[in-house]
Amino acid sequence: MAEAIEASRAARRRSAPNPWVGCVIVAADGTVVGRGATEPPGGRHAEAVALAEAGERAGGATAYVTLEPCSHEGRTPPCADALSAAGVVRVVAALADPDPLVAGAGLAGLERAGVETSLGVGGEAAEALLEPYLVHRRSGRPYVVLKLAATLDGRIAAPDGSSRWVTGEQARRDVHELRADSDAVLVGAGTVRADDPELTVRLATAPERQPLRVVLGRSSPEARVQPALELSGDLRGVLDLLGRRGVLQLLVEGGSKVAGDFHRLGLVDRYVVYLAPALLGGDDGVALFAGPGAPTMEAAFRGRLSGVRRLGDDVRIDLVPARGAASSRRIAAPPSVADGSRLG
Ligand SMILES: NC(=O)c1ccc[n+]([C@@H]2O[C@H](COP(=O)([O-])OP(=O)(O)OC[C@H]3O[C@@H](n4cnc5c(N)ncnc54)[C@H](OP(=O)(O)O)[C@@H]3O)[C@@H](O)[C@H]2O)c1
Repeated sequence: MAEAIEASRAARRRSAPNPWVGCVIVAADGTVVGRGATEPPGGRHAEAVALAEAGERAGGATAYVTLEPCSHEGRTPPCADALSAAGVVRVVAALADPDPLVAGAGLAGLERAGVETSLGVGGEAAEALLEPYLVHRRSGRPYVVLKLAATLDGRIAAPDGSSRWVTGEQARRDVHELRADSDAVLVGAGTVRADDPELTVRLATAPERQPLRVVLGRSSPEARVQPALELSGDLRGVLDLLGRRGVLQLLVEGGSKVAGDFHRLGLVDRYVVYLAPALLGGDDGVALFAGPGAPTMEAAFRGRLSGVRRLGDDVRIDLVPARGAASSRRIAAPPSVADGSRLG
């Protein structure tokens, strides 16, 4: 399963709105006879890639997959049928697929066809890797990553509004990796006016595609962020719309007002804060979050620290809400996907 999870990483930036899945097929004598990862939309699923490599050696083999095989006819035939037709006798899946078109039907179909199944091996690691997909299919909305770069005293811009550059080169490169992992990047119109960002992936190691650029409010015709989708109104509605467009991960890059709104509505699944060893030394710079905060220390938001990493002179801190908090605060929306769920 560890090898299947590793294989799935290769598909991380190319499979949306489909999940990035890995599959390893192991013959009865223990040899690996096939490996696969999800191809770009329209291409084959991981199981089909691994089965093609295994050929006749799939007979009597065990297939390890990071996500329950699909059971419905999309642009590609159901993987559950392909596995049983190839003579695979056992399927080990790390995670059940929450997509309503699958939701247990893949494993049930395999059992009916006489294939032994088991669920949960490597589940935690697979869940961590597939989280944007899982959140999207459970809630209908993208997995929201809020990124902010601040001085050590919590300011994202100086009193004159300037924020270039709070952090150094390595942290900025890391932001481009975050963008490359995201299907859409969003900023408020205030940030477009202050910073005129391009919001493109330029420094990432494998920029396989450019994320959809989204501005809250009106951008200007002269802004560098063209062409971008301009959205306005209730943020939950904005997320529902992006979810229907197949955005699995949304990177929110500020500024202060937008960050405060997403935070207070409990819409953030992961906070990524880059802290620079700099101090503005007053209270007149732009704070991480605009608007009223928690009135008492007891009411402060407390997340779970999920990572601390040094990047040159800066520090990246990842914070996630206590398990399930962001998703549970959401209004349950049917996970409808405009592009079709897990369509190949
Ligand atoms: N260090 C960092 O990581 C970082 C990142 C980004 C920005 N910044 C800094 O943050 C500052 C900008 O922050 P800010 O708070 O002024 O602006 P902002 O949060 O980027 O944008 C706020 C504006 O966006 C529009 N908007 C937001 N939500 C909307 C919604 N739901 N519907 C319609 N329009 C919506 C409104 O535009 P209108 O006013 O046009 O109605 C609003 O005034 C700048 O100084 C920038 O340099 C720093």
